[in-house]
Amino acid sequence: MNIAIIGAGNVGRALATSFSRAGHAVIVASRDPEHSAAVASAAHGRAAANNAEAAAAADVVVLAVPPDSLESVAAEIRSAVHGKVVIDPTNRMSFGSSGPTMELAESNSERLAVLLPEARIVKAFNTLFASRQIDPIADGVQLDGFVAGDDAQAKSTVVALVSSIGLNPIDVGPLSRAQQLEQLAFLNIALNITANGTWTSGWRLVGAPSTVAVAVAA
Ligand SMILES: NC(=O)c1ccc[n+]([C@@H]2O[C@H](COP(=O)([O-])OP(=O)(O)OC[C@H]3O[C@@H](n4cnc5c(N)ncnc54)[C@H](OP(=O)(O)O)[C@@H]3O)[C@@H](O)[C@H]2O)c1
Repeated sequence: MNIAIIGAGNVGRALATSFSRAGHAVIVASRDPEHSAAVASAAHGRAAANNAEAAAAADVVVLAVPPDSLESVAAEIRSAVHGKVVIDPTNRMSFGSSGPTMELAESNSERLAVLLPEARIVKAFNTLFASRQIDPIADGVQLDGFVAGDDAQAKSTVVALVSSIGLNPIDVGPLSRAQQLEQLAFLNIALNITANGTWTSGWRLVGAPSTVAVAVAA
C-alpha cells in the first residue's frame, strides 16, 4: 500500500517505521522539511514537499498531527483525497485544576468527516501510544487496534493495515464510535500522567464477542 503520513512527530515516526517494516511504501510530510526528511529517511520512505503532494501520491493518508491542525491540514489536502481512505489517529484533552480532563463532545474524527466530505474517514491507532505502534506486544500480549468508520471497504483496508503491523484488529462500528475510542485513549493517557507511567500500557479486549473479530484480507 502507498501510505502518506502527515506529521513527523512521535506518531508519524512510529507509524512510518511500522508501515515500512510491513512492506508498505511511505511518504512523509510536515511543516518543517527537515522533520519530514528525517522521519522518511529513518523509515526508508520518501519526504514530500508539502501535505498536498504527500496525499496525492498515496492510497491511504494518515493525519498524525495535533487535533488543532486538522482544519488547516484538511484544507490543504481536500482536493487530493477524493474517495481516499483518511485515517485519524488523533486524541484530545485539556488540563483542569484537578489534572487531565476531556469534554464529552463530537469526536475529532466526526469533525474531520465534515471537513473532508469526499474522503472516507476511519479512526484507528489512537488508542496505542507511539511506543506500541512500533511494538504491539505488551507483557507478552498482542494489543488491539480498534477501527471505526462508516465505509465498510475503507474499514477493511485499515483493518488489513492494522493487522500488517502486528496488532489485533477490532472493528468497533461506525465513525461515531470514535467518541469512545478517544475516551479510551484519554483514560490511558490520564493514567500515565497521574501515575507517572512509562507510556507503554495498552488495551486488549479479552474474550471479545465474535462479531467484532474481523477477517483480514490476505
Ligand atoms: N504520542 C502518542 O503516543 C500518540 C498516540 C496516539 C495518538 N496520538 C495523537 O496523534 C497526533 C500526533 O501526536 P504526536 O505525539 O506525534 O505529536 P507531535 O510529536 O507533537 O507531532 C505532531 C506533528 O504534527 C506536525 N504538524 C502540525 N501541524 C501540521 C500541519 N499543519 N501540517 C503538517 N504537519 C503538521 C508537526 O510538524 P513539525 O514538526 O514539522 O512542526 C509534528 O511533526 C495527536 O493528535 C495525538 O493526540 C498520539
